[in-house]
Amino acid sequence: MTAQNAQNWTPSSWRTKETLQMPTYTDQVALETAEAQLRALPPLVFAGEARALQKELGDVANGKAFLLQGGDCAESFAEFGANHIRDTFRVILQMSVALTYGGSLPVVKVGRIAGQFAKPRSSDTETKDGVTLPSYRGDNINSLEFTPEARIPDPQRLIQSYHQASATLNLLRAFSKGGYADLSRVHGWNLDFVQDSPLGERYEDLASRIDDALRFMAACGVSSETVPALRQTDFFTSHEALHLNYEEAMTRQDSLTGDYYDTSAHFLWIGARTHQAENGQIEFIRGIKNPLGLKCSPTLEPDELIRLIDTVNPDNIPGRLTLIARMGHDQVEEKLSPLVRRVKEEGRSVVWSCDPMHGNTFTSETGYKTRRFDNILQEVRGFFAVHKTEGTHPGGVHFEMTGEDVTECVGGAQDIGAEDLSSRYHTACDPRLNANQSLELAFLISDELKAARQDDAIRPAEAAAAE
Ligand code: PEP
Ligand code: CO
Repeated sequence: MTAQNAQNWTPSSWRTKETLQMPTYTDQVALETAEAQLRALPPLVFAGEARALQKELGDVANGKAFLLQGGDCAESFAEFGANHIRDTFRVILQMSVALTYGGSLPVVKVGRIAGQFAKPRSSDTETKDGVTLPSYRGDNINSLEFTPEARIPDPQRLIQSYHQASATLNLLRAFSKGGYADLSRVHGWNLDFVQDSPLGERYEDLASRIDDALRFMAACGVSSETVPALRQTDFFTSHEALHLNYEEAMTRQDSLTGDYYDTSAHFLWIGARTHQAENGQIEFIRGIKNPLGLKCSPTLEPDELIRLIDTVNPDNIPGRLTLIARMGHDQVEEKLSPLVRRVKEEGRSVVWSCDPMHGNTFTSETGYKTRRFDNILQEVRGFFAVHKTEGTHPGGVHFEMTGEDVTECVGGAQDIGAEDLSSRYHTACDPRLNANQSLELAFLISDELKAARQDDAIRPAEAAAAE
């Protein structure tokens, strides 16, 4: 590793490798035109912000913080709007309050937002009523509509998704720094349709306790007027680094350090279908200095994982790499344990995060792609159990969720059934937790975190007693 990114790496060196899951554009000139347009557009995030996130993730890797990452499976041009952004943001704030309170740990907040468009697909084509068309690959590539014209990849969609990401980020910056995230507004984040549910009540109860604490602190002279941390928060953006033409065009050299950063988001991850060590996606991310994620699926072997870690984090920098396990509720303990053990034995510093969504997808009898709330919860519990056994930090969670009252995942306190899925099924890709389900899960995780923290507190005492 040289001071300036990885050896023999350039923002375009991925082009010499095989790439998977990339669209095939018929008009190369149109693609090059879009790439040139993107290169001329301003960066969406700054290198210093990516470094700040890496530092916070370093605290997660060292067991001193917890990562909450969540948002849409696929952002869409149709769902784009201020309310959608605000509702996602406020549910993430609510979840983070529940987690901070339970775990007594700072929560690092990262949205799957402001750029989460490109999707890997299990099949290149989709067949409906005997008609076969190319698969939908995300709104930055083609359209969900089932017509031959709509499914043709159009490079100008990359420009539209850049502008949507830019407007989204602008609002998120305003919300996180401009007063919306002030802890004294903790009651105001509760959404109308959540308020009347059992979860809404649990949240109100928590908010009242926070209010009491804030009043006490204000009497001691500590308030959101005197302490910025109480009136604003750090909120970071992330997406899957899949569409490498886009990511390359957004990669810029930081004038302070000379390092390259992908300025399309603070955090980029590599999906379960594209993490082969010889692949273009791995080649691309090894050279950018943003903090990175790597999805770990049940087929990933410990040796292969260590090879990948060597490639993307050879200097073993804490916070550089987050391993996002997505094993499925019935396999998590069996498949995750050997990976966690090996990473620990090899002394690699990573953040371990749990994605309980992607290993638990199935098609309901009513024909909808869905997930069971109980399976999601079971995977999270399995994740915590593995870390308890291995003596490692269950560092974070990664969800597909929305602040809206959708019916896409079955179960939870609202008891959404397979027959309810059709009523408000809006996702452009995978099924998301709705606001109620997200909050319910956050409270359940907060209980797990609290138990894990209590174990940690007990462990040193046990060790001392054994001496
Ligand atoms: C995703 O996060 O939307 C996704 C496609 O996940 P995975 O790569 O883990 O299947
Ligand atoms: Co998904």
